[in-house]
Amino acid sequence: MLNITQILMDYEKEQTGITHVPQFSWTFESDKRNVMQQYYSLVIAKDAAFSEKVYESGKVESDASAQVEPENVILQSQKRYFVKVTAGAAGEEASCETSFVTGIMDNSQWKGAFVSAEEESDADNSKGTYVRKEFSLKGAVKEAFVSVTALGLYKFYINGKKVGTDELTPGWTSYHNHLCYQTYDVTEYLQEGANAAGAELGAGWFKGKMGFEGLEKRRNHYGTCTALLAQMVIRYEDGTEEVVVTDESWSGADAPVVFAEIYDGEIYDAAKEIDGWAVAGCKKGQWRPVRKIDYDLAVLTGQGSGRVSLMDEVKPVEIFKTPQGDTVIDFGQNMSAWIKVRAQGKKGDVIRLDCFEVLDSEGNVYLDNLRDAKESMQYTFGYDGDIIYQPSFTFMGFRYAKVVSFPGEPKLENFTAHAIHTKMERTGRIETSNPDLNQLMHNILWGLKSNFVDVPTDCPQRDERLGWTGDAEIFCRTACFLEDTYSFYRKWRRDVEADQTPEGGVAHVVPDIISGNEGDNWLLKQGSHSAAAWADVAVVNPWTMYLTFGDREILKIQYKSMKGWIDFMKNHAKDYIWNYKLQFGDWVALDAEEGSYFGATPNDLTCTAYFAYSTGLFVKIAEALGCEEDVKEYTDLYNKIVEKFQKTFYDENGEMTAQTQTAHIVALYFGLAPEEYREKTVAGLLRLLAKENGHLVTGFVGTPYFCHALSQNGHVKEAYELLLKDDFPSWLYQVKKGATTVWEHWDGLKPDGTMWSADMNSFNHYAYGAIGEWLVRVMAGLEVDEKKPGYKHSVIYPRMGGNLEYVDAQYDSVYGPVKCRWEDRFGETVLKVNVPVNTTATICLDGAGEIKDSDGLTFAEGEGCMKAEAGSGEYTVTFVRK
Ligand code: BGC
Repeated sequence: MLNITQILMDYEKEQTGITHVPQFSWTFESDKRNVMQQYYSLVIAKDAAFSEKVYESGKVESDASAQVEPENVILQSQKRYFVKVTAGAAGEEASCETSFVTGIMDNSQWKGAFVSAEEESDADNSKGTYVRKEFSLKGAVKEAFVSVTALGLYKFYINGKKVGTDELTPGWTSYHNHLCYQTYDVTEYLQEGANAAGAELGAGWFKGKMGFEGLEKRRNHYGTCTALLAQMVIRYEDGTEEVVVTDESWSGADAPVVFAEIYDGEIYDAAKEIDGWAVAGCKKGQWRPVRKIDYDLAVLTGQGSGRVSLMDEVKPVEIFKTPQGDTVIDFGQNMSAWIKVRAQGKKGDVIRLDCFEVLDSEGNVYLDNLRDAKESMQYTFGYDGDIIYQPSFTFMGFRYAKVVSFPGEPKLENFTAHAIHTKMERTGRIETSNPDLNQLMHNILWGLKSNFVDVPTDCPQRDERLGWTGDAEIFCRTACFLEDTYSFYRKWRRDVEADQTPEGGVAHVVPDIISGNEGDNWLLKQGSHSAAAWADVAVVNPWTMYLTFGDREILKIQYKSMKGWIDFMKNHAKDYIWNYKLQFGDWVALDAEEGSYFGATPNDLTCTAYFAYSTGLFVKIAEALGCEEDVKEYTDLYNKIVEKFQKTFYDENGEMTAQTQTAHIVALYFGLAPEEYREKTVAGLLRLLAKENGHLVTGFVGTPYFCHALSQNGHVKEAYELLLKDDFPSWLYQVKKGATTVWEHWDGLKPDGTMWSADMNSFNHYAYGAIGEWLVRVMAGLEVDEKKPGYKHSVIYPRMGGNLEYVDAQYDSVYGPVKCRWEDRFGETVLKVNVPVNTTATICLDGAGEIKDSDGLTFAEGEGCMKAEAGSGEYTVTFVRK
């Protein structure tokens, strides 16, 4: 039996609104082993019967079932295309179908204009507005598509119904360079005769308050008025077509959202609702003409997937009174979410909920760490009766909500939280016999969910929620395991490049609202771009995506940006020691001076280490793309940086000049330790670990690689010991303290119950969740082969330890599920592995003395362990460890 289980387009099941031919990939299932694809054919057609073909590959003898890129395909705008893949393997054949929808293929085809219901005098308010238009359709509709975007945020409606399930559209990008629009199939929304289309608009990232104290301006970063742009094509059964666009024939009005911003929440007055505003024939409301807003339509980009949506539903676990008498709802999970409220009240009654993350040491409401963000939602009844309300143009980072006002007694059934973040498929899972580790994985996953609200943010609660590049850089490998992040990162990467300085410097935050706006912020006035480990996201993230998906396309797209960043470092380095203006260094490490954010490892060292690391990756990237000249040039540069690093940061006895854990970690993990001093460097790291009683004192730079630096150098046992520490400071200390997401500081909540200063104390920062990649690559042993990325060839090499009885991991790769489960029982280790169809794997047995059952595989003594080469299929190997 051979099946094609799914076709992916640019690594997504669904693409609606793309303006390029996607890459195709498909996954198989088979009950046989060693199955490789022998041939495939791919057809793209305008109709589901495949009679109007626009592309036909013919039979292609190839084992490529990913990154298949049809060439010379001409696509029409706002049209559904049907795709069929047929493939043969192991003497059988299977096929599968899917479809995708195009956006507006060429921005010159936009016929309408942005229209606004706001005036310039509205620059400083963040109210909601409506824009609407009625139109008539002359006959039966065969198909219809609408492409929509906004300056601000929009919710689009046709005939009273919200179109699609996206939220917070069009998302946040470097708007002046890149503004996404979304396309929807609206065939089912339309009717013959009278119709109405409209949108509700909010300030969002575009004009609402964004950024923290000290910045020169904190609102109107991109403009002063919200506006809508839409273009709908309606194709009739009779073959004719019609287009409806936003223009001055639309009208506008104020909406019941009287205030909405990302940080502060939403205020909604139901008395201001206009009944039937999005339905044809509406006579209510005070409608006024809209104004056209000039905007460069050349920056519009069709977004096919990776949009924000309402995801998990979380029911509250408890409503209680604090010692200070506040009524508080506990949702049991820290998250980015909206609260949906069901309530009964009378006209004028008010519901107000203030969201927050943690209780203070006395169990009272703690708002201080939100700084200037209010995270409040308020609803005023416009009539007597039952209502359901949830906000629209904001999101909150919280576990708790304080009930400031509610008609009657609030009960659990009145509230549901809806996690809100970019819609991504869950791809990776790990479960172990240790509940604390499982909770850590849970916390890492929820850190991801909470901070993937359209851009990779540092935190979702305080007046920040910015695309800090360092956090994104260190966490992206873990993220790429847990969820299908392809569309999310591909969109954001475009902004990383758009916001690069002409010299190739990379902004600290992307989208960059800081450069040119530093004001008297004590930190940022020293520099708004190009910090080691932060800016290196320009190289590390595309490389990670290449490893994860096997996607060369992303390397091609980002090549100029990556090279620009390496050249920036090269041009600002002094004799290969790189350092530049504001550096965050080993940010929030515990070896910092009391109260300081800057860890003890010198910037020259962390900067130069990253200079070498990124340059080394860039060489591999140039190799993957066959850019021979660059391979030569940058290999030379790489060698010089490494030489300089070794001369500068090692003394004549082979000791590192900086006696910090992080210095040793990067020297080892980035491969910068001189070979003859490698052992000494390892010994140095162990010594520094012992000095802290087995605890880490590392920050953003050292933490992600601590366990790797140990396990790669013969100290798997010590890596597990570090991982499993559960007293302060450690990953599991947070777990023991009841964390449901990962904290920004090891000492966010100190053992004595006090907290790190409220000026920067998030309990939902994914950065330290970067340990997740060690759990995947080492504990569970799911590793990518750099030469055959995307798990076309996997290296399955789990390292047992930590007194774990079992570890069970699965990653749904581009080729299908790669699985590894190991169990230690009665002195034997049982390893169960799944290798996807059309891929191969090297299976490595950690410390195997005797193999009891090889399940048909041939193991031989390899470098450091017994190894076997495996084709696709499931295997169960039993062995005894030495
Ligand atoms: C953020 C960090 C970020 C840092 C830069 C903080 O305010 O929350 O996670 O990377 O600034 O040092």
